[in-house]
Amino acid sequence: MAVMAQKNPNIKITVVDLNAQRIADWNDNDLGKLPIFEPGLDQVVNEARGRNLFFSTDVEAAIQEAQMIFISVNTPTKTYGAGKGMAADLKYIELCARQIAKVATTNKIVVEKSTLPVKTAQAIKSILNHTGNGVQFQILSNPEFLAEGTAITDLTNPDRVLIGGDQTPEGKLAIQSLVDVYGSWVPKAQILTTNIWSSELSKLVANAFLAQRVSSINAISELCEATEANVDEVAKAIGMDSRIGPKFLKSSVGFGGSCFQKDILNLVYISKSLGLQEVADYWEQVIIMNNHQRNRFANNIVKTLYNTVSGKKIAFLGWAFKKDTNDTRESAAIYVADKLIDEQANVSVYDPKVTASRVQSDINYLNTRTEAQNNNYLTSLDNPYDAVKNAHAIAVLTEWDEFKTYDWQRIYDNMSKPAFIFDGRNVLDKLALETIGFHVKGIGK
Ligand code: UDX
Repeated sequence: MAVMAQKNPNIKITVVDLNAQRIADWNDNDLGKLPIFEPGLDQVVNEARGRNLFFSTDVEAAIQEAQMIFISVNTPTKTYGAGKGMAADLKYIELCARQIAKVATTNKIVVEKSTLPVKTAQAIKSILNHTGNGVQFQILSNPEFLAEGTAITDLTNPDRVLIGGDQTPEGKLAIQSLVDVYGSWVPKAQILTTNIWSSELSKLVANAFLAQRVSSINAISELCEATEANVDEVAKAIGMDSRIGPKFLKSSVGFGGSCFQKDILNLVYISKSLGLQEVADYWEQVIIMNNHQRNRFANNIVKTLYNTVSGKKIAFLGWAFKKDTNDTRESAAIYVADKLIDEQANVSVYDPKVTASRVQSDINYLNTRTEAQNNNYLTSLDNPYDAVKNAHAIAVLTEWDEFKTYDWQRIYDNMSKPAFIFDGRNVLDKLALETIGFHVKGIGK
C-alpha cells in the first residue's frame, strides 16, 4: 500500500488495523520504529505518509470513504476442526467481509490481497450480496508476489501483476480500475487479467512451484553428500539450461517463511477435498522433503560431534528465515534448535535483526517443553563473538552477508577444539576456514 501511494499521489490510501500499537508505530516520526524491517520501506513511507498515505484504527470510517478496499489479513493454517493443520483459516477474511457488508452504503470494489484457497471469492460475494441495502460489490483477486527482504524492488519492478475478476461488464470495469492503479508505474504488458479462479489458484501454484524447486535441489544435496558431487556445481550446470533457469536452486537447511508451507498444505487440502489424491501426494512430498532437510542438518551436527551434544554449546549464526528480514516465521532455525535442545545442547543465537524475545517465543510456540526449560537451553546474544565463544560448533542458519566479513581467526581461537562449522547456507569460504583449522561441513558437499 505504501508503494501504491508513492506511485499514485492522487489516490488517498488509508491502512487500517484494530491493533492500536501497530498503527501508532506506523505513524511514529522515528522511522526506525516501523513494525517491519524491510530495506527501503522507510523512505517510501516517509515520502507518502501524511500526503496520501494514512494509518488509522478507524476501520468503519475508512470502509465508508473508500471506493476500493483491499483485504490483507492473515490466512494461517487452521489449528482446529476440519482441515486442521492443512486448510487455510478464513475466519479473518469472513470477519472483514461482514464488517464491510455492515458499514458500506456506497458501491465498492473489494480486492482479495491475502492468499486464499480457490473459490473464496464466492464466500465473500455471498456475504456481501446479502446486505439487502442495494449496495453493489465487485470482488477482485489480486495476489501479491513480493518476497521479503526485496519487497520494495519487487513491487517497483514486478515480473507481473495479476488481477482476476468476473467476466461480466461490471466485473471488467472493476478490473480496469485496478489496472489503472498499477498502470501508473507497471507497463501494461505486465498486468495480467484473468478470471477470478485462475488468479486465486495461481498464487498457490506460484509458491508451490518455487518451494518445489528448493525441495528438489535439497533432495539432490543429500545425493551429492553420498557421492562426490557438489550441489552448487550441479545447480549451476542445470541452471544454465534456459528451460530450467538459474534462480531458486540454492540448496539450504530448508525453506521457511510464512507462505510456502502454508500454501502447499492448502493446495494439498484442496486437492484431497476434490478427491485428487495423487495430486495431493505429489505436492505434499515438497513439505516432507523440507522437514527431512531440517532434521538431517540437526542429526548431522549430533553425529559429527561424536554422537552427543549434551552440555555442549552450539552457536547459531542467523535465526530469520532468510537474510534482510527480521521475520522468523517457519524458519528452519527454530526446528533445528528444537532438535538440538532435545539432545540437551546449549544453543546460543546471534541474528543481526531478530530480538531475543522473538527467539524465545518462536521456540515456546512449538510447545515441545516448558518455557523455563527452553530458557535454560536457548540464549540470544547481541554480539556474534560472544555467541560463538567456547562453542563446540557453529551452525549457519541464515545467509546474512555480514557473516562472511567476521574475523574467523579470532572466532577459531575462542572456540573449543576441534572447532566445527555447519554451513546450512553454503555462504562461508570453506577453504579459507579449513586453512585456519576449522572442520567445515556445507550442504550437499
Ligand atoms: C515467497 C515468494 O518468493 C513470494 O513470491 C511470495 O509472495 C511469498 O513467498 P518469501 O517467503 O518472502 O517469498 O521468500 P523467498 O525468497 O521465496 O524464500 C523462501 C524460503 O526459501 C527462504 O527460507 C529461503 O531461504 C529459501 N530458499 C529460497 C532457498 O532455500 N533456496 C533458494 O534457492 C531460494
